[in-house]
Amino acid sequence: MIRNQVLKIIKEIDGSNISLLTPKISEHGDFAFHISQFGEDSQKVMDIIDRLSKNGLFEKVEQKDSFINLYVSKKILLDELALIIEQKQTYGSNKLDEEKTLVIDYSAPNIAKRFGFGHLRSTVIGQALYNLYSFLGWKVIGDNHLGDWGTQFGKMIVAIRQWADKPIEELSVDEMEALYVKFHDEAEKNPELDDQARLAFKKLEEGNPDEREIWQQLVKNSMLEFQKIYDLLGVNIDFAFGESSYEKAMENIIALSKEKKISKESEGALIVPFADKKTPPAMLLKKDGATTYFTRDLATIQFRVEKWQPDLILYEVGAEQTLHFKQVFWASEMLGLINRENLFHIPHGLIRLKEGKMSTRKGRNIKLDDILNEIVEKATVFNDDPHIAKVVGISALKYNDLKRSPTTGYIFDPNEALSLEGNSGPYLLYTYARIQSVIVKASSSVIPLKKGIQENGSLVEPGMTKKLQPEEISLLRALFRFPELVEDAASNFAPHLLCTYLFDIAQKYSIFYETCPILKAEENIKQFRLILSTAVGQVLKNGLNLLGIEVVDHI
Ligand code: ARG
Repeated sequence: MIRNQVLKIIKEIDGSNISLLTPKISEHGDFAFHISQFGEDSQKVMDIIDRLSKNGLFEKVEQKDSFINLYVSKKILLDELALIIEQKQTYGSNKLDEEKTLVIDYSAPNIAKRFGFGHLRSTVIGQALYNLYSFLGWKVIGDNHLGDWGTQFGKMIVAIRQWADKPIEELSVDEMEALYVKFHDEAEKNPELDDQARLAFKKLEEGNPDEREIWQQLVKNSMLEFQKIYDLLGVNIDFAFGESSYEKAMENIIALSKEKKISKESEGALIVPFADKKTPPAMLLKKDGATTYFTRDLATIQFRVEKWQPDLILYEVGAEQTLHFKQVFWASEMLGLINRENLFHIPHGLIRLKEGKMSTRKGRNIKLDDILNEIVEKATVFNDDPHIAKVVGISALKYNDLKRSPTTGYIFDPNEALSLEGNSGPYLLYTYARIQSVIVKASSSVIPLKKGIQENGSLVEPGMTKKLQPEEISLLRALFRFPELVEDAASNFAPHLLCTYLFDIAQKYSIFYETCPILKAEENIKQFRLILSTAVGQVLKNGLNLLGIEVVDHI
């Protein structure tokens, strides 16, 4: 990559590794660096400018204030165009990180509770990160850490025994959740119910068949409902080692914590205190001996480290669990399971509907299925073909989420998500579809590469660089950035960077489309514009697919 060549040249002159920036505005060049990195040595800066101007990579190397801006030569931009046409769906991918392994913990809905908006965010962002890292050559493992264990199942068992008005096999997740809510209401009046729930969970943990059976049925029914959501979203997670898988392994963690002397008893419970006074102790065992979410997360890390030896474990989980993960990461290091630096929590903010925050306890949790159905239904205004409406609706929902930094919360508005006016999934799908229809109209559905190649081996005719219009150059410059954008989005755990980029490309394409006639242009220019359009379509498709969004040829 050119970036590396530039770094190498500078290193040869200066002996140091400098940081090379990508200017936000492409008018400021394709790369830039700050001269302060070379101290006050203006001679060195001159040398660097001189070397960079002469190696054929750049058509302009320019000092503006304290920055050196580098403009890649048109020849290189056109070579990149040829590369896109040649590499197609693999364009932008690489295999540099083939040795590395990443585990992503995402989605993780809770059994017997509705699949909430928070889990939607986790699923969509987690899947995008999964795709990005796979594209960059990592071995990626997705693990759905289902909430299928914990004292709440004691409460569910008591509630079902007392109030369920139908066989458990027939209970929907909605009904399970209503029972859970009822338990809390009733327990406020009658605290004895809490004791019963504790006992029921204890029996469940001890493997008592009656409690086991109820629990298994809850898992089964919930998973059937969740699967419908995954099918609609087109998401398929490699593994689902839920919390219950770690029942036995938790004993090891407890023993290890004692052996390493990092846990201690406190008021009957077993806790892990932290050296950092701002971090409150975490609980390994409750007073009644029940294990916790924290203990299970530690056992999970131990399992993942043994099974996959990951270089990195990412947790795509709501921001409200920030303290939990801080405690888990510290404790894993104290237990000697893995270093803290290899663990990352990627917190996401809350989605709100206009009514305000939703909470399961109060039973106001919004049904995600309703939202999904609503958006797909609304998307039929674009096209009443059910497949296309589904693709457009789901693209709207996913993109609307991914276009923001994960940490930002937002108010969900289906009309905004579906709008063709702005930065939306449908707008990008529309741009992609528009390109496909131009190509079809040109009666060569995909331009055969061989036909596009000139006698001199180049994809476009020799004098092309001189004929390029500003709109074309600006598209070429934008296309050239794609591989780097993919890397940035992955390394910063920030799929929204890719969204911003794709939106920019789509806008540039639309300016190009308005300014530069394609089909009516003279033959060689028409060929070039078709190639350029094909490449833009390919980059949009590759980018959207990385975000977990399917494209269609017309909407
Ligand atoms: N089921 C949890 C919840 O809904 C999320 C689990 C996240 N992953 C983890 N390893 N703790 O809050």
